[in-house]
Amino acid sequence: MAEEIQLKFHEDAEKKKLHEQLEEHHKKLEGIKKDAELLFRNETFRSGEFQGLTKREVEIKVSSETDVIRVHTGIEGFDELIEGGIPEKSVVLLTGMTGTGKSIFAMEFLIDGALHNEPGVYISLQESLEETMNQMRFFGWPVDKLAEEGKLLIVQPELYNFDGLLTTIEDSIDRVGAKRLVIDSISIIGMYFEEPFKIRKSLLDLGQMLKKLGCTTLAISEVGEGEVELSAYGVEEYVSDGVVVLYYIKKGGMFLRAVTIRKLRSTRHSTKIHPIEIKRPGGIVVYPSEEVFSEAG
Ligand SMILES: Nc1ncnc2c1ncn2[C@@H]1O[C@H](COP(=O)(O)OP(=O)(O)OP(=O)(O)O)[C@@H](O)[C@H]1O
Ligand SMILES: [Mg+2]
Repeated sequence: MAEEIQLKFHEDAEKKKLHEQLEEHHKKLEGIKKDAELLFRNETFRSGEFQGLTKREVEIKVSSETDVIRVHTGIEGFDELIEGGIPEKSVVLLTGMTGTGKSIFAMEFLIDGALHNEPGVYISLQESLEETMNQMRFFGWPVDKLAEEGKLLIVQPELYNFDGLLTTIEDSIDRVGAKRLVIDSISIIGMYFEEPFKIRKSLLDLGQMLKKLGCTTLAISEVGEGEVELSAYGVEEYVSDGVVVLYYIKKGGMFLRAVTIRKLRSTRHSTKIHPIEIKRPGGIVVYPSEEVFSEAG
């Protein structure tokens, strides 16, 4: 009997504590709601840490205090769409159908890094070393000089096994002290395994590993012609911090190239589809103030 009473006493105390916590939570919520209303009316905050500040002032304060280091892509017009660059050390999936410009985009990102003392590694699982180098030379980028200086390393791993690939990626990063990494493309992982389960599991493992390596990474993924999926196996986008989609769109009697940012962590990014061009020399040019599908058509 005494035990029962004691148990009940404990239960009551627990309930009381929970009740108090809930009340406190509600009070906080009320405060947040009031501040949110003020935000809309553009008045100054009446209480809390932002007291006396206007919405604009709070925005500036918050954005300067969130210490997201941004990595410039070097792609003309693109960084404007993503608050100045990709958050450092994030893994971004670069996806699109064949010929949409994924490899060129990724190469340009590495060249920009190499030119600014951020060494980069290009893991080429599709094209040969020479083909990749040639493509870069074609755009007028000083690929040979950067490679000699140890600021750019292009690697074509043997397609033996998945574990071997992971080791090659790690070793290559160590060799040049890479800050940027490109994998062209992760869809090739599908070739290592027969069972769909193993492919997905490996892509998840790869995603985890890439995050631990600490490079700002562009992982290229291919989608088939006319498909609406973001990736070949449907899991790649979930292990990425961001997804950039490149398009080749039929509009009227011609095809247009375009780009959109499907997600990017810690970033207020554009949600529009922007036209792009591939130029030689130079590379990709994004038009941030233009849209492919504007209301005017
Ligand atoms: N100098 C150039 N001017 C205009 N377009 C170019 C130029 N060079 C390449 N291109 C275009 O870029 C396309 C190739 O781009 P890229 O190799 O980056 O595509 P991708 O998305 O990587 O394709 P894949 O999935 O087949 O690897 C070519 O098909 C061509 O249309
Ligand atoms: Mg390619």
